[in-house]
Amino acid sequence: MNSLSDGYTLYNGVQVPCVGFGTWKMPVDVAAASVQTAIEQGYRHIDTAGAYFNEEGVGEGVRRSGVARERLFLVSKLPNADHGYQKAIESCEASLKKLGTDYLDAYLIHWPVLVENQDHLEEDLCDTWRALERLYHDGKVRAIGTSNFLEEHIELLKANFKDYPMLNQVQMHPQNPQEDMIAYCRENRILPEAWSPLIQGQAFKRELLIETAAKYGVTVAQLCVRWIFQKGAVPVPKSTHPDRIRNNADIFGFVISDEDMEKIATLREYGMIGNPPSVPRTHQVVGF
Ligand SMILES: NC(=O)c1ccc[n+]([C@@H]2O[C@H](COP(=O)([O-])OP(=O)(O)OC[C@H]3O[C@@H](n4cnc5c(N)ncnc54)[C@H](OP(=O)(O)O)[C@@H]3O)[C@@H](O)[C@H]2O)c1
Repeated sequence: MNSLSDGYTLYNGVQVPCVGFGTWKMPVDVAAASVQTAIEQGYRHIDTAGAYFNEEGVGEGVRRSGVARERLFLVSKLPNADHGYQKAIESCEASLKKLGTDYLDAYLIHWPVLVENQDHLEEDLCDTWRALERLYHDGKVRAIGTSNFLEEHIELLKANFKDYPMLNQVQMHPQNPQEDMIAYCRENRILPEAWSPLIQGQAFKRELLIETAAKYGVTVAQLCVRWIFQKGAVPVPKSTHPDRIRNNADIFGFVISDEDMEKIATLREYGMIGNPPSVPRTHQVVGF
């Protein structure tokens, strides 16, 4: 792979461009401008969510870019408050309407464990997944997946459904390298995606990353994005600045050595951002 149009093939045959563009925390107008810039800069994979409240802007950015819809990979996620069969179907329909498109390339369950359903988690996840299967078989979404799911959650879906998750988007960066999840995904032909690849800005203050980036003559952001790409996951960096949007995806002109790949992962000592997905969240949590 040596361009943003190149990518992975999911187990159902759908192609996924190898770097995504994140839009969390972007208001509608900023999302429209940033998505347009990202597509003009060559990104072909755009990540949003019902809980980002910016799908109208993302859709507008897609249209303004002038790039044909079928050349893009558009992902949205089911909000926490919309778990359950009927609500999930309606929520996806609402996302399609806001985005101004007939189909999504991937639709993900945003989070697995909510305070409101932790006593009937299995039933909740199965009901919700049944809705995603329906949307998939009705052609509303080309691929279905999960986000922040642990192995146990995916195993539950594997045990109960023929169509198990095709992608799993998790927090992944040098402080949270996710080796076990990557290995699990590989064994099960699930594509891992990496949210917060720049550690939500913390990457820029890690001395090891600053020194290693200087050694390769690249920015810390390029180093982080390339590090995830070399691990076989899809990085989803976010920026609202055109120069950063361009720079973050300029990752095909250098290769990180095996030794440096390992060294970068020693930052795991700083740990992940926030709580692991096993800690229940509430419906009210907005964003990520
Ligand atoms: N599935 C989930 O639960 C979940 C959770 C979190 C995120 N996500 C997805 O993953 C995407 C990325 O994660 P994220 O937004 O949390 O964080 P991130 O991409 O790790 O970092 C974004 C932060 O880094 C800054 N930044 C970006 N490029 C930079 C550069 N070259 N130099 C200096 N600063 C730079 C951005 O500021 P500026 O915008 O000002 O450039 C922003 O503050 C999200 O937008 C979202 O689509 C998914």
